[in-house]
Amino acid sequence: MTSTTAAPAPASATLTVEKVGGRLGAVISGVRLGGDLPPETVAAIRAALLEHKVVFFRGQDHLDEESHEEFATLLGTPVAHPTVPSADGRYALPIDSDYGGRANQWHTDVTFVPAYPAFSILRAVVIPPYGGNTLWANTATAYSNLPAPLRALADGLRAVHTNDYDYAALRPNAAPEQLVHYREVFTATKFRTEHPVVRVHPETGERVLLLGNFAQRIAGLTGADSRALVNLFQSHIERPENTVRWQWQVGDVAIWDNRATQHYGVDDSDDHTRKLRRVTIDGDVPVGVDGRPSVLLSPETVPAPAFGPASGATTTAVES
Ligand SMILES: [Fe+2]
Repeated sequence: MTSTTAAPAPASATLTVEKVGGRLGAVISGVRLGGDLPPETVAAIRAALLEHKVVFFRGQDHLDEESHEEFATLLGTPVAHPTVPSADGRYALPIDSDYGGRANQWHTDVTFVPAYPAFSILRAVVIPPYGGNTLWANTATAYSNLPAPLRALADGLRAVHTNDYDYAALRPNAAPEQLVHYREVFTATKFRTEHPVVRVHPETGERVLLLGNFAQRIAGLTGADSRALVNLFQSHIERPENTVRWQWQVGDVAIWDNRATQHYGVDDSDDHTRKLRRVTIDGDVPVGVDGRPSVLLSPETVPAPAFGPASGATTTAVES
């Protein structure tokens, strides 16, 4: 395992960053997460996050809903999910096996709205005795490792993302109550957003592939051509060499750059309970390599959730 030092400034005498995957993923040690971290420590965590795309912290058992959110505010503005109610009446989103919360599809969080989250901060509360790992993939290296003709092809494409995809077809073994829950809650509002397939990352300047399971079709193509191209680019994202896999322990925290990754929750812990809490940080409207922003196609605006601003509500690119 290679050891690297967090940039740009020494955050503390004990903070270390150790890579756990070749293309993404690092463990940060020597930090007790909370709302009281000094600015230099927050800067070091943010720098590691932008470089490694997903960072992991062990032993953060002291965190609860409130301190999880207090820490999140150090990275930006927490935002509520556009349709799913929170666990605490504020921002903490429940990722629970009891609610069908098994995201075993490769995705980037909430890409069915324009300004989808910049960061997600996931905290493990109950972990099954086996299985239930999460995988992340680096969408920047997926792009940069494409052959030049495929990069040029991707640069010119745009894709429509929606939360109204065929959940029942994707989860043929889902219980009827899970399907009802999905239809009544997750798609309470049906969103459609057109994104560039290649986004220029607003902080690093890297080009990243923007697809995942909310991507319904490539704009302007037939269904068959669209599926072929989505599968082509998505296969480069999902290559094992382009991923990292995390085996959760209670008290772990993972933070990922949601603008440069996809992730996948492995559904292999049978009926054992798995509970995590996620707080997401507001993002901005993506732009493609041609400078064109993402556009909300429907509805006209992102509705306000019960508490706080909605993820994606900061859009300035609403199509009239
Ligand atoms: Fe997710």
